[in-house]
Amino acid sequence: MSARFATRSLGERSIRSPLSFVAPFVHGLPDGAPGFTHDDAGVLYDIELPRHASHVVPRAFERAGPREMIFFDPKKVTAGVVTAGGVCPGINNVLRSIAVELRHRYGVERILGFRYGFAGLDVRSSEIPFELTTDVVRDIHSRGGTFLGTSRGICDVEFLTAGLAKWGVDVLFTIGGDGTMRAAHMIDAEARKRGMRVAVVGVPKTIDNDIPFVDKTFGFDTAIATARMAIDAAHAEARSVDRGVGLVKLMGRHAGFIATHATLASHDVNACLIPEVPFELGGPGGFLAWLDERLARRRHALVVVAEGCSKGFEGLPVELDASGNVRFNTEAGDVGHLLRHAIEQHFEGSGRKATLKYIDPSYMVRALRATAEDAIFCDALARHAVHAAMAGKTDILVGRWHRRFTHVGLDDVLAHVKRVDPTSDLWCQVLESTGQPPFRNSTSERSERAVVK
Ligand code: F6P
Repeated sequence: MSARFATRSLGERSIRSPLSFVAPFVHGLPDGAPGFTHDDAGVLYDIELPRHASHVVPRAFERAGPREMIFFDPKKVTAGVVTAGGVCPGINNVLRSIAVELRHRYGVERILGFRYGFAGLDVRSSEIPFELTTDVVRDIHSRGGTFLGTSRGICDVEFLTAGLAKWGVDVLFTIGGDGTMRAAHMIDAEARKRGMRVAVVGVPKTIDNDIPFVDKTFGFDTAIATARMAIDAAHAEARSVDRGVGLVKLMGRHAGFIATHATLASHDVNACLIPEVPFELGGPGGFLAWLDERLARRRHALVVVAEGCSKGFEGLPVELDASGNVRFNTEAGDVGHLLRHAIEQHFEGSGRKATLKYIDPSYMVRALRATAEDAIFCDALARHAVHAAMAGKTDILVGRWHRRFTHVGLDDVLAHVKRVDPTSDLWCQVLESTGQPPFRNSTSERSERAVVK
């Protein structure tokens, strides 16, 4: 027995799937044709058993995968795809695999790619969507960015839903981060209100890896691999001079996943600063005192800071982007610059010199083509999104949990946030790898905000 995370479907599935599978070399599969998945198949949320818990009802996600009976008749379906928000490695892989799975496996002939994010879906837009034929998508996976174009901005859901009606879209794939999932959820609600039978399926995309109930978003691996190159370069710079400091700022608006994983991938980082773990600059227990001591002892230091640490600096001007997100890459709000100035000021006139090299790989970490690992992941996510949509699943995203593909209701996704947990194995591993102290002057103080003084 398990408690299910809720998902929604458009209705009864009465059409036999055109998919067929080569029978696997095992006998006695419990039921159904080999390769098909059933709605009652689940993926456990928690695979660890708490101590002394004999009567725990495990929670589970619905298992993603092809269904034997589907909701939509492939011959009559129009599919639409939107990519929104910042770019991310692998978007074009997802687009290509969605188009190929729809066309070659299900036989869907009309697949529309809306231009420049939700702006292109808006009924008032003059942009004509691309027809995603096999020829059109053939080579797109070899490039970074998004073939369709993207945008940020607050959209009017009524105009977007009217756009779906205008183009006759039955299944809509939304590739994006939390803002995109919010828009998808609203489009689903509006379509329902209008009595439209549209399946809205999200594919979670962000290098920040901060989508709840998804163990990893696509593009994250590529971002880490690129970030590690920046860290390697900063390390080489720092070690090549006496009292060298390599400082690397990495993206991650609210979450320190890129910074922590890149730190672990590098093995060389001595301090990793993330927004989830408050730190102090000054005072005997602060970051600058540690840096002093580190340079005296080891003659170099390598520091990684996540961009979201800016919010710990009090009194900074807050700028928002078109979607209402805080922008951290402004001149005044850039934590890399703030930290660099703080370090330079600290050593200036102290008689203890330090040679600091600052590297900000910036958009490099998200604008390149996907690594092999991400490319495989993107392909699987895309095909599972197609299976979900053709089965009439809606208001969900396709996620991955314990390396299994899942359906997660957007209600659940939007009601939670995903951040680095300072009590998690991940953060403990960072502390073990870097050997960094807490950068706090008082251990008794507990605060949710970074306290950069
Ligand atoms: O959300 C992904 C992300 O790459 C963040 O890490 C970063 O803060 C943001 O996008 C910057 O995006 P842009 O400059 O395109 O608004």
